[in-house]
Amino acid sequence: MPLVTTKEMFEKAYKGGYAIGAFNINNMEIIQGITRAAKKLNAPVILQCSAGARKYASHDYLVAMVKAAAEETGLPIALHLDHGPDFETCKSCIDGGFTSVMIDGSSLPYEENIALTKKVVDYAHAHGVTVEGELGTLAGVEDEVNVSAEDASYTKPEQVEDFVTRTGVDSLAIAIGTSHGAYKFKPGQKPQLRFDILEEIEKRLPGFPIVLHGASSVNQEHIKIINEFGGEMPDAIGIPEDMLRKAASMAVCKVNVDSDIRIAMTAALRKHFAENPKHFDPRQYLTPARELIQEVVEHKIDVVFGSTGAAK
Ligand code: G3H
Ligand code: 13P
Ligand code: ZN
Repeated sequence: MPLVTTKEMFEKAYKGGYAIGAFNINNMEIIQGITRAAKKLNAPVILQCSAGARKYASHDYLVAMVKAAAEETGLPIALHLDHGPDFETCKSCIDGGFTSVMIDGSSLPYEENIALTKKVVDYAHAHGVTVEGELGTLAGVEDEVNVSAEDASYTKPEQVEDFVTRTGVDSLAIAIGTSHGAYKFKPGQKPQLRFDILEEIEKRLPGFPIVLHGASSVNQEHIKIINEFGGEMPDAIGIPEDMLRKAASMAVCKVNVDSDIRIAMTAALRKHFAENPKHFDPRQYLTPARELIQEVVEHKIDVVFGSTGAAK
């Protein structure tokens, strides 16, 4: 099956009260772990890469591998640019086979965010590609950008209709208390999301797909394995799964996950090397890493996002 845009996926997800998992990809094993899970559960999926992932793996390799996954699985798969930093990067992805892009103007002044997002939308829509915009700033680390909790700001519901109408975006990422990276809440801190803001946005934009970034849950078992086998990860608390389930039953149609995949892969590799110090064949150590990624993604699709069986 050819790659698809996010349009139909989101329409169905909104009506069905579930969300599509959007997983960050950097190499073949990650792509396979994710798409094997999606295939097993017959779920549509978004494979997204950051500018950093494009630099690491190169555009052409990523596109070719994602196309191979869509071909092999027969699933609706969208290839999405995560946190597009500027028009040129978005254009290069649109010209180069991506079916969806995010333009992240969230750190710009409001009017500049609108102008940049609209420029990307105009180009993308002329080429049949969907666009995600962002309003509000998440805390955390993405690429080299580190936003402190003090500098993060919730999305202002009174801006969303104006932003969506004037830019023409197909989906909107909002800030309601999630954050990027493995360290979202301090130990002892009670995780909280501003569902009141989500509700208000949902009222103002009925039927419009909302996106949650920074939505990893940070599996405590995996952190334990990493630390048991020589790693040094401080206590980390992620977004509780019941909150993500609730968001998915509301207007949230896309949930972004990267850290949980990184943590799973690291846990599997550390454990494997500790238990098999003589191994040096990448197929031996990358197999359990790919398997644990698959396990994580299956759990998210089935239990957290509710998209099992949605690839009809
Ligand atoms: O939100 C950012 C994603 O986790 C991608 O991270 O820019 O380090 O590839 P990256
Ligand atoms: P996490 O760091 O919570 O996995 O978030 C990833 C993300 O939002 C990618 O855009
Ligand atoms: Zn993000």
